[in-house]
Amino acid sequence: MTKRDFITVEDWTPEQVDALLALAVRIKRGEVSGGLERKVMAMVFMDPSLRTRTSFETAMFLHGGHAVVLEPGKSSWSLETEAGAVMDGATVEHIKDAARVLGRYADVVGVRSFPRGGDWASVRDDRIVRDFARFCEKPVINMESTRRHPCQQLADAMTLRERLGDPRGQRFVLMWAWHPKALPTAVPASAALAAAHQGMEIVIARPEGYELDPDDTALIRKIAQERGGEFVHIMNDPDEALVGADVVYVKSWGAVKQFGRLEEEALLRQGLRDWRLTAPRLKSTRGGGATVMHCLPVRRNVEIDDAVLDGPTSAVVDEAENRLHVQRALLLELLR
Ligand code: CP
Repeated sequence: MTKRDFITVEDWTPEQVDALLALAVRIKRGEVSGGLERKVMAMVFMDPSLRTRTSFETAMFLHGGHAVVLEPGKSSWSLETEAGAVMDGATVEHIKDAARVLGRYADVVGVRSFPRGGDWASVRDDRIVRDFARFCEKPVINMESTRRHPCQQLADAMTLRERLGDPRGQRFVLMWAWHPKALPTAVPASAALAAAHQGMEIVIARPEGYELDPDDTALIRKIAQERGGEFVHIMNDPDEALVGADVVYVKSWGAVKQFGRLEEEALLRQGLRDWRLTAPRLKSTRGGGATVMHCLPVRRNVEIDDAVLDGPTSAVVDEAENRLHVQRALLLELLR
């Protein structure tokens, strides 16, 4: 039998994803226990985490299993990711070997790997997490790569359903925000895909130069249309975009065209600090109080103001909580 990985949500059918979300709802209600006794998850964090690490460790514990955390270059050997590398430099172990060995110890392996420079064309294929899946004999879960954060996408889908009831036809605005660093596009693409799967109307508000990868934009449009929603359009004025929003998903991301050229990218974002969700801007949304989402961590009063994050329509902590429920469902589905 071939193993099943979880690299992108779109690798699974809509029916499989709906079943996962339904199981997550039952888990949240306290209706599901056990199922992962004597199972082990190995998590490879090539980049830091608060939510992903804690929610997966908690999920394994709650169902009777165990989680092991590896931090290459810190508490475990630094990993070489290039095929055919002559490893006479700083890296000690090839991911090919690490993936094969972890597959012998663990029942499932999670990998987090953000982009590490280079140009966009060379990193947009999510090769590191896909190589892990290729070489590991056990299921591999993408815990955030260059292009996707599928666990966040599931949690965001669950949160949209909780907050909106039936999200179909409601307006989802993905709003770019200023941030001191150029961040990956995995979360904004995944968030818009979550809304597309729910059949929502989707607006992307971003300054000129901050387009998502064209393939991601096309996929968001295609899925929204297939699921009865609509891709309304891309706007470069946050005030115009927020009018009539039912949900505002705030996220910063780096310019793909300047990817890996940090000084050039920093020049592009100069003068864009006004791209921030403030209380007056939230007032312009539908009913003056759209649901506010962000994957966290968030730069307070830089991406979103305190008054909004701590206000009654903020769903950011629910999204973080739902990471636990959807990941419990995912682990049960992959390992039971
Ligand atoms: N949202 C999210 O993935 O959080 P962490 O980076 O803390 O895991």
